[in-house]
Amino acid sequence: YAPLPDSLLAQASPLPAVIVALNTTSSATGSSPVAIAAKELQVGIKGMLGRQLNISTESPIFRINSTQSSIIVGTIAAYSAKYGSLNASSLIKDGFWLSVKGSRVTILGQNERGALYGAFDYLSRIAQGDFSDVDHVSNPSAPIRWANEWNNLDGSIERGYAGPSIFFSNGLIVKNLTRVSQYARLLASIGINGIIVNNVNANASLLTDENIQGLGRLADTFRPYGVQVGISLNFASPQLLGGLATFDPLDASVIAWWADKTKRLYQRVPDLAGYLVKANSEGQPGPLTYNRTLADGANLFARAVQPYGGIVMFRAFVYNHHADWNDWKFDRANAAVEFFKDLDGLFLDNVVVQIKYGPIDFQVREPASPLFANIPKTNVAIELQVSQEYLGHQDHLVYIAPLWKTILDFDMRVESKPSLVRDIVSGQYFNRKLGGYAGVVNVGTNTTWLGSHLAMSNLYAYGKLAWDPTQDSQTLLQEWIRLTLGHDQAVLQTITKISMESWPAYENYTGNLGIQTLTDILYTHFGPNPASQDNNGWGQWTRADGKTIGMDRTVGNGTGFTGQYPSELAAKYEEIETTPEELLLWFHHVNYTTRLRSTGKTVIQHFYDAHYAGAATAQTFVSEWESLRGQIDSERFEHMLFRLKFQAGHSIVWRDAVNGFYYNLSGIPDELGRVGNH
Ligand code: GCU
Repeated sequence: YAPLPDSLLAQASPLPAVIVALNTTSSATGSSPVAIAAKELQVGIKGMLGRQLNISTESPIFRINSTQSSIIVGTIAAYSAKYGSLNASSLIKDGFWLSVKGSRVTILGQNERGALYGAFDYLSRIAQGDFSDVDHVSNPSAPIRWANEWNNLDGSIERGYAGPSIFFSNGLIVKNLTRVSQYARLLASIGINGIIVNNVNANASLLTDENIQGLGRLADTFRPYGVQVGISLNFASPQLLGGLATFDPLDASVIAWWADKTKRLYQRVPDLAGYLVKANSEGQPGPLTYNRTLADGANLFARAVQPYGGIVMFRAFVYNHHADWNDWKFDRANAAVEFFKDLDGLFLDNVVVQIKYGPIDFQVREPASPLFANIPKTNVAIELQVSQEYLGHQDHLVYIAPLWKTILDFDMRVESKPSLVRDIVSGQYFNRKLGGYAGVVNVGTNTTWLGSHLAMSNLYAYGKLAWDPTQDSQTLLQEWIRLTLGHDQAVLQTITKISMESWPAYENYTGNLGIQTLTDILYTHFGPNPASQDNNGWGQWTRADGKTIGMDRTVGNGTGFTGQYPSELAAKYEEIETTPEELLLWFHHVNYTTRLRSTGKTVIQHFYDAHYAGAATAQTFVSEWESLRGQIDSERFEHMLFRLKFQAGHSIVWRDAVNGFYYNLSGIPDELGRVGNH
């Protein structure tokens, strides 16, 4: 809510005189989303426009036909009760209607949360210098728009790069929840309505009575912002925490144990969003231990939360990480469809299968997971990762929205009909009631939230895409820049340029042609280590040898993965000639000397050139940023300069490590004589 520059202030239309907050009963406590919305409007207008408005919760002086200017904020129901009924049939849950007519502003939500979203939308317009009249209905694309936080109870965060947890420390929920409240506000401002607070690799001791009370405090802190809390479960909790001899999902004592725990949780957190479950994956316990199906496992929890309206997010990230790398027919990418396809129709209605965007694991480039097309009778959500686990840990600038868009806008060609991933996850395509988005965010106590100021554009874009995935990634980026750094044109142009170049550059200097990120996959997931992909059980293989590279995932001669796609796509990916070049080595095992259709270059020469090009682009980020000295406050300027310099250097490390590796392996010289001569 920084003050608007004078040039924009001059354009501001006449200002409303008062903020009228409807839903007065709950707002009296100061803790309802409508009360928060009114407060945000007051603080925002004061900050940006320098005008102090009063908040009225009394029967307003305003009458619906009067010309008295005001900002009315509340729910449709509260408005109708006061002023007579309003036709709001076009609004769905969490949606809002924003009407700006000169100095008369009406912000009505389908629910209180929607009213808060509408208030943020109005404030965002002001912040961007948009004072035009609007009459605008905005509905979310999907009901589930959640953040996942991989926080451990000891305060550490798995794949988090911004310091320790804001939720947990020493096995308990922290006492001071100030940061949690700020995070709730931040999430509400981008339309996020749920949060899983603990790691998918879950610790059973979250379910002790003491921690249930702590979760209650977390939920109380998130609730005014319309963010519902949920938790990840450890499947073996009945045994680990409850002392039972088993955690078999069909065992009566296990069912009773979960029913009891769930009851206690809902007693303290009546609006608990539900559970997230990672089962039988990477060493986590699950139903397969007892020869029960994954659906048996998911439904155990679904039945437990069903009486309270809760839902179960059941992760599709199930695979064997002790795979036999000598088996050329084995493929980790096949796992999700193999595990879930035959279970379609067996999950209860309040189960949502949460699917990572690609078949492996948040790589710099993956095809869309074929599971999206394979379980039409199951609710699904897409899992995206804001935390840059494979994308440089926030030490590299990588604006990820363009990558997500390659998946969300992807047409799965189910029955040869247009069937975009975004329409499948919203529930619309297969006519499912539930569906949506889970974003692994992993904020920490660092004052930047993610460890890097510019990384916050990813969180912004995530929330906005979950609300409306048809939006353009550059438009979202520019909104974020204006809202975060103001209206300077040079700032806007420069950050747009480096951000939009950042994912392609990162792909170029890490792993291209669909070979995966080529980072160290065994430990850090940071920095180059192409050798770590192969000859281990993790299944992120590249099959690189002295002459050839790439996974043969064809039906004809490989792992059969291409056959998991609907027929049009299966046929397309089966042949080298019709496979998109950026996924060539994802689907095919080729010679280094195979020539690319687009450029006529050999695969190996493309590698060499792309790595040079990517690192060269990263060098320009430093000078581009330096051109903004004096335009951005020195704290944020120096913070980013440090990171961009690191990235520039590290991109050269990447370039030389990867190029050197393939040069040593293949013995094929770089046509331009750069590689291997250091
Ligand atoms: C990746 C990540 C793990 C995480 C896992 C998951 O493998 O490296 O830290 O637990 O994904 O999503 O479950």
